[in-house]
Amino acid sequence: MRLGVLVSGSGTNLQAILDAVATGALDASVAVVISNVSTAAGLTRASNAGVATEVVNHREYASREAFDTRLVERLRHHQVDTVVLAGFMRIVTRVLLEAFPRRVVNIHPALLPSFAGVHAQRQALNYGVRVAGCTVHLVDEGTDTGPILAQAVVPVLDDDDEESLGARILVQEHALLPKVLQWMAEGRVRVEERLGRRPRVFVTG
Ligand code: GRF
Repeated sequence: MRLGVLVSGSGTNLQAILDAVATGALDASVAVVISNVSTAAGLTRASNAGVATEVVNHREYASREAFDTRLVERLRHHQVDTVVLAGFMRIVTRVLLEAFPRRVVNIHPALLPSFAGVHAQRQALNYGVRVAGCTVHLVDEGTDTGPILAQAVVPVLDDDDEESLGARILVQEHALLPKVLQWMAEGRVRVEERLGRRPRVFVTG
């Protein structure tokens, strides 16, 4: 499996992937890391691991589709077969999704379908839920709505703030994302499309 990882920020999930590849826990290679933000720390993490990096600045494109067209071109250049959105703060379009059907994965810091979109941890705290967590899912055209591959749960503590809850969730993110990618590398993820209903995901073995 040849991964293309898209990042906008610190890239700790990218680091978890790079570490899992290095230890052999993830049987894949990171072919390229692309960021829409030239200063993203994720780019440095990639370079430190000897992985190719590219910057594609969304501001230089007239539309989301034009931006995605460029992303697809660069991902194909690096012969990527699976795309990971790891803290990638852009909404992707069908241009990317149709280029990599059912091969675009996102990690979201909430137990979807609750608290989609930005500031998921804040949304969870404001709502007053007692458990929170993260979700790894296939990306579809909605925001954080695609078929769920795996979730991990953490408690919400009485004295939590956004930062402490976020840190607890992040620990789970770093474990869950490489694990799910390894399932995909092993060909263990099957998605059954169902007319008029949500697709159903099976993880075999
Ligand atoms: C993570 O919480 C991820 O779930 C969300 O953005 C954050 C990215 O963190 N989509 P990092 O860049 O991987 O450190």
